[in-house]
Amino acid sequence: MATVLIDSFGRTAVDLRVSLTDRCNLRCTYCMPEEGLQWLGKPQLLTDEEIVRLVRIAATDLGVTEVRFTGGEPLLRPGLVGIVAACAALEPRPELSLTTNGIGLGRTAAALRSAGLDRVNVSLDTLDPEVFARLTRRHRHPDVLSGMAAAEEAGLTPVKVNTVLMRGVNDHEAPDLLAWCLERGYELRFIEQMPLDAQHGWDRSSMVTAEEILDSLAARFTLTPEPAARRGAAPAERWLVDGGPGRVGVIASVTRPFCRACDRTRLTADGQVRNCLFARGETDLRTVLRDGGSDAEIAELWRAAMWGKKAGAGIDDPDFLQPDRPMSAIGG
Ligand code: GTP
Ligand code: 5AD
Ligand code: SF4
Repeated sequence: MATVLIDSFGRTAVDLRVSLTDRCNLRCTYCMPEEGLQWLGKPQLLTDEEIVRLVRIAATDLGVTEVRFTGGEPLLRPGLVGIVAACAALEPRPELSLTTNGIGLGRTAAALRSAGLDRVNVSLDTLDPEVFARLTRRHRHPDVLSGMAAAEEAGLTPVKVNTVLMRGVNDHEAPDLLAWCLERGYELRFIEQMPLDAQHGWDRSSMVTAEEILDSLAARFTLTPEPAARRGAAPAERWLVDGGPGRVGVIASVTRPFCRACDRTRLTADGQVRNCLFARGETDLRTVLRDGGSDAEIAELWRAAMWGKKAGAGIDDPDFLQPDRPMSAIGG
């Protein structure tokens, strides 16, 4: 009988986000510096087997029903297809999804689908290859578009698209991005930029807010809130576009935080449990795992880690401090 990952505020974590690597092949300006970061070394990284064991404990002993693989860029993990296949063979089988920048999906989408991956969320901030190069410091726009098409063709659907708008860079593109996604049946979600960049350069006044995004969309489309604006604990609030069936989401982590409904637990690529994206502490599962700890001991540590989850991320608190690790090392 599973004993769930409940916290002291009564929230239950059923959604596990697993970071498979802290590395990335892009250098998005809102995420990391041009020169990249000090990457984790191989001995620090969980092995494929260790990851699958922790996912098994989460799914069979701790009530986790959804597993999302993230990074850095998870497609850079050589063992990804095998990890997906092993997780798809678990009983009960969790829903399996991937959040990726799309580069390399063209080559791997079919194999990932066959291995049991259910769907993908792809990051795309612009339709303009020049803007893409400025934003990501890499000329890979065509690879992302072909990766998205491959995902769709492989049945990794619905393809969801994540967009971060940067003032003066791509914020004029919101309606064009939406039209482009609607045409293809992709579900677009705009994400407010969060203070999770390695450079600590985030500031609230330059962040494009959910309200601004919705205003710019309303100039071209009629938006009506979906009856259940938020699906369960999903971070996106959703609107029907021009009466539907197409829709658009906004993930307003800063101006309309959704911490009260949070159902997430996170595992970093080096085996640390985080009870929140913004947590200032972590719980080390890797040491127990490598010291021969039993499933029951690991499960107990994980439960204790989640029990200590704070009520909210507190981005708007005067004493808010960014977590020590950037988003690329935590997992998006
Ligand atoms: P689905 O809608 O089920 O596909 O899941 P999702 O919205 O969680 O997908 P995805 O991983 O693409 O997350 C979208 C974005 O929401 C992430 O890239 C983050 O920017 C943001 N996000 C994810 N988890 C959290 C969280 O726990 N807190 C906050 N504030 N933002 C989050
Ligand atoms: N704020 C909001 N979203 C971010 N992402 C990366 N860094 C940030 C940030 N600081 C997004 C990426 C990708 C997803 C994993 O998270 O654009 O879509
Ligand atoms: Fe890579 Fe994602 Fe960071 Fe961009 S936002 S550099 S794609 S980890």
